[in-house]
Amino acid sequence: MGVDEEKIVAAKKAAELVDDGMVIGLGTGSTIEFFIKEVGERIKREEIEIWCVPSSYQSHMLAAENGFFITDLFQVGELDACIDGADQVDSELNCIKGKGGALLREKIIAQASEKVYIIVDSRKLSEKLSKSVPIEVLPYAYGSVVKKIERIGGKVMLRESKTKIGPCITDNGNFILDVDFGILENPSELERELNGIAGVIENGIFPSKLISAVIVGGKDEKAKILKKES
Ligand code: 5RP
Repeated sequence: MGVDEEKIVAAKKAAELVDDGMVIGLGTGSTIEFFIKEVGERIKREEIEIWCVPSSYQSHMLAAENGFFITDLFQVGELDACIDGADQVDSELNCIKGKGGALLREKIIAQASEKVYIIVDSRKLSEKLSKSVPIEVLPYAYGSVVKKIERIGGKVMLRESKTKIGPCITDNGNFILDVDFGILENPSELERELNGIAGVIENGIFPSKLISAVIVGGKDEKAKILKKES
């Protein structure tokens, strides 16, 4: 089974969690694209009404094309659930997110949601988090934030745009740093420490306390649901 097939298996399973009249947060990325299309099929077939708060222009446009009603956090301060992808998930269900650059809005909708479901292919699972951590930074503070992060041991790369010269600018008008910290022994502590630096707007560590379950598209065409041990 290829990566896309596994993403589709996870997306289909998550689409079953959605009910008529629900208001959901939509993450960003290729796995969420599959999820939006799956729910779009249900909207057509079952004539259900699904409201959403998208986390990016990508998911906003796709949701509109697929029959979702779109709302925002002015209208609804709380969401029934949030469905999102991830770049890496550790054995305690801490996640790294933000390869698609939407981590700030993704964390906002996750924190606004009663339940947070992360959907991934099996290659995203790892014993410990070790991928670079995306960090959204106010451009004004770029230089000082880089120095502070280097002092706590991070190797910083400014994310460059692929289609224009210069930095990648987020949907919120900010820069993204991709920071290599090696293996993250204590993701929650690092998340808090990074957000304590003035000029850091948000970072891509999503601690497991925020996550209700991780749905993994397995190699056997079955989705596995991972929950924290209580
Ligand atoms: C975007 C994200 C994505 O959820 C993450 O990058 C996973 O993307 P994909 O589903 O394309 O693998 O955090 O900011």
